[in-house]
Amino acid sequence: MKTETGGLSGRPLFRRSTVMLARIYVLTAGRIPLIGIGGIDSGETALQKMEAGASLIQLYTGLIYEGPGLIRRIKDHLARHAHSTGLQRITDVTGQRAEQWAALPLEG
Ligand SMILES: Cc1cc2nc3c(=O)[nH]c(=O)nc-3n(C[C@H](O)[C@H](O)[C@H](O)COP(=O)(O)O)c2cc1C
Repeated sequence: MKTETGGLSGRPLFRRSTVMLARIYVLTAGRIPLIGIGGIDSGETALQKMEAGASLIQLYTGLIYEGPGLIRRIKDHLARHAHSTGLQRITDVTGQRAEQWAALPLEG
């Protein structure tokens, strides 16, 4: 719950954590591998986290709600994206949309 004291996890955290990730990616000019975490619960949110600047992704809450099959779905989505956009490696998406993410307000 967003209003409760204590740890926030899952979807309510997605935007804020992704914007923060992108800002750090921009500030460090992509020179440092960053682990993206917060609200990844699908292939699309995993891809967005990488586009915002993640070299690696981590998830907890999404796995609880979606179950272990989520990992396969994320991998399939990333592989399809790499294939359809002609990328050699999925890590080539890292930071592709960092500037756009970094410019967003934290809340929205
Ligand atoms: C039940 C639970 C336990 C957690 N325990 C830890 C922990 O011991 N150490 C830590 O650094 N983060 C811990 N976290 C935070 C997660 O690693 C993660 O940063 C956070 O939940 C946001 O990602 P998510 O939206 O994928 O869950 C915990 C999260 C949850 C939901």
